[in-house]
Amino acid sequence: MGEVTFRIRRFNPEKDTEPYWQEYRFEPPAGATLLDCLNHIKWHLDGTLTYRMSCRSAICGSCAMRVNGGGQLVCNAQWVDHVQPDGTITIEPVGNFPIIKDLVVDQRPFWEKIQAVEPYLHNDESAGAGRVSHGAGGL
Ligand code: FES
Repeated sequence: MGEVTFRIRRFNPEKDTEPYWQEYRFEPPAGATLLDCLNHIKWHLDGTLTYRMSCRSAICGSCAMRVNGGGQLVCNAQWVDHVQPDGTITIEPVGNFPIIKDLVVDQRPFWEKIQAVEPYLHNDESAGAGRVSHGAGGL
C-alpha cells in the first residue's frame, strides 16, 4: 500500500505551552496494528513519543486513543482499516481527560467516579460464602 503519514497529537507539559501535531511517515508492514505502528515510531523514529499499552489483547483498555476522531483500542485495530484517502492516520489522546503527556491522559477522574458509585445490588454474604463446588477438587 506504500507509505502512510501518522499525524500524532503531541504535548509535553514540561516544555510545550500548547499541544501540536507531529507527522511520521513510513511503510507499515501488512498485518500490523496501530499499536505496532506506534511502537515502530517510538523504537525506530522518535523515542520521545509517549503512550500507554499493557495487555495488547483489547482487554485492559490502557491503549484507548482517538483515531481519525473516533475512540479505538489501538492494539485491536489494523492500520490498513484506518488509512484515509489522503494517506494519513490521525491519532490523538482519548477525549475528556486532562493530558499528562502526548497520548497519555489522567484517568483519575474516571476511577474516582467508579469508586464513588453506590452499587445498586448489595450482597449480604461475605466473600466466598455460598460458593458451589463442582466435581472432585472443585473450588
Ligand atoms: Fe490493553 Fe490495548 S493494550 S487494551
